Amino acid sequence: MQKRLLVGNWKMNLGAEQAKELVHGLQPLSSTLKHSEVWIAAPFVHLAALSHVLSGRSFIKLGAQNVHWEKSGAFTGEISVPMLKELGVTFSLVGHSERRHLFSESDQLAASRSQVAGADFKIIFCVGETLAERESGKTEAVLERQLKALTDKASTQNKSAIILAYEPVWAIGTGKVASAEDIQSAHSFIDSFWREHAGGAATPILYGGSVAPDNFQLISQIPLVAGALVGGASLSLEKFSKLIQIAEM
Ligand code: PGA
Repeated sequence: MQKRLLVGNWKMNLGAEQAKELVHGLQPLSSTLKHSEVWIAAPFVHLAALSHVLSGRSFIKLGAQNVHWEKSGAFTGEISVPMLKELGVTFSLVGHSERRHLFSESDQLAASRSQVAGADFKIIFCVGETLAERESGKTEAVLERQLKALTDKASTQNKSAIILAYEPVWAIGTGKVASAEDIQSAHSFIDSFWREHAGGAATPILYGGSVAPDNFQLISQIPLVAGALVGGASLSLEKFSKLIQIAEM
């Protein structure tokens, strides 16, 4: 059985000491897991220190929240895979809705960023519709547009290292969780699209959007939900530990 994946997305939160303390606090539980894995997408500036805290132990995987596809060059404000790998970072989020909506990152840009996915560097590619898009019946069209930009650009090697995350924009940071039916139907749509356009193999699909200890039990049992991408609740040792315990059940 595929392990459940619990990915914390810290966004632009936590100072250096708080970040180290949180990872330190997560270590005892994370080192005992059999059915789940804990990944943390931390702000770039904390990655070196967190890597030091973990000192090569791989039970918590470290990730970035965005990544550029070139190795180096005149790209002010960007970070490359070789820079991240030097710090022991093994994955990055791409196409998070905050990048798409607050920073105008396009489908094409997200697809270009995902071209770094490979054997030793995974990409968690996020897709999801806004409330207006859902209410006007465009959810599947939006998911398809976002995924098609990705599958058109990605090589076979990229595709085998891409994990998907369904995050309805209206559920992120709002306390509103999509219904089990909505999650199941979106995941099933994403799964079919992916298998059709990525050579037949399935890939894990995470759910994200106000995941918390009181709703994760239900969400984690929905077919095709391979784990969660967690924002707010990943900043609390208590809440994130509860989520890990649920993922492990
Ligand atoms: P949230 O964020 O859990 O705070 O809703 C999820 C995300 O943005 O990845």
